[in-house]
Amino acid sequence: MFALMFNKLKWKRGVLLKNFTSFHIGGKAKFFTQVFSEDDLKENILQAHRKHLPVFILGGGTNLLVSDRGFPGLVIKIAFSDVLWSENQVIAGSGVPLPFLVEEARKRNFSGLEWGIGIPGTLGGATRGNAGTKKEFLAQHLREVKTLNKNQLVAKSYSPEEGKFGYRQSFFQEHPEIIITKVALKLKPAAPEQISREMKLNWQARKSQPLDFPSAGSIFKNPPSASAGQLIEAVGLKGEKFGKAQISFRHANFIINLGGAKSSQVLTLIREAEARVKEQFNIQLEREIVVLDETGKEL
Ligand code: EPU
Repeated sequence: MFALMFNKLKWKRGVLLKNFTSFHIGGKAKFFTQVFSEDDLKENILQAHRKHLPVFILGGGTNLLVSDRGFPGLVIKIAFSDVLWSENQVIAGSGVPLPFLVEEARKRNFSGLEWGIGIPGTLGGATRGNAGTKKEFLAQHLREVKTLNKNQLVAKSYSPEEGKFGYRQSFFQEHPEIIITKVALKLKPAAPEQISREMKLNWQARKSQPLDFPSAGSIFKNPPSASAGQLIEAVGLKGEKFGKAQISFRHANFIINLGGAKSSQVLTLIREAEARVKEQFNIQLEREIVVLDETGKEL
């Protein structure tokens, strides 16, 4: 592995993406870099465009399955880490880890992020996927989203309405060319006991989840008026193993990596769950995770 310098840009060759995903799965990126400012981001995209390389924007990698064959272009990890706190809001770079913001808000006696306890990943990823619990979502606490268009390199701000947020969905998800750069969330001062109580309740709701093995959280969204975990259990797939990938015994909407699982093994389990649930319940499960295949397509 060696670094390439293009007009001061530092690209590393052959970086293993498994080290940047919560699944611990993923082959090599042809080139990999981290960016710390919007100018940095623009410069790197521009260089990739010049070299006709596809670009993939990486956040926390917690909702992502990367092919073992890797990615044939430039992976840019967003590392924007600026955070500005005030009494009624926090404005943070999209690369800031959500768990950091949740903990800092608690320390400062600010309410508004209690739903985020135990949710890994970055603020940008959480915004794109409208992360949350069963009852509460990021978008309910959102003030503004700042973005950069990957194709035109134009910045634009979106209001919560323009973000078209729904259950684990947003306008940004449908437009992978839009990169979230900064997010403003509403906060309000609250009593520490109230914040802790709320966080404890949200944490308890995660007890059924297999957090002791690498995974990407929920694989599927819950279909309307059903639960993906319940459906997958009902079709008899709980504990189903393929290679080193396993549909968790604890929670059937989680696939865990027992150590050295291949992306193809995870995909086989995903497809099996989709097929059986469709066949037995006539319900088409919708994936919550993003699958990045070796052609650079986001599926
Ligand atoms: N269930 C089963 N079998 C299983 C798993 C679950 O029968 O193997 C049943 C449970 O007994 C329960 C129902 O399914 O009656 C729902 O399960 P659970 O309470 O665990 O909640 P969930 O709907 O699976 C959702 C979110 C989680 C979030 C929790 C807690 C989705 C897809 N999942 O899980 O979010 O942490 O509520 O708020 O919306 C994520 O999105 O990645 C995620 C982890």
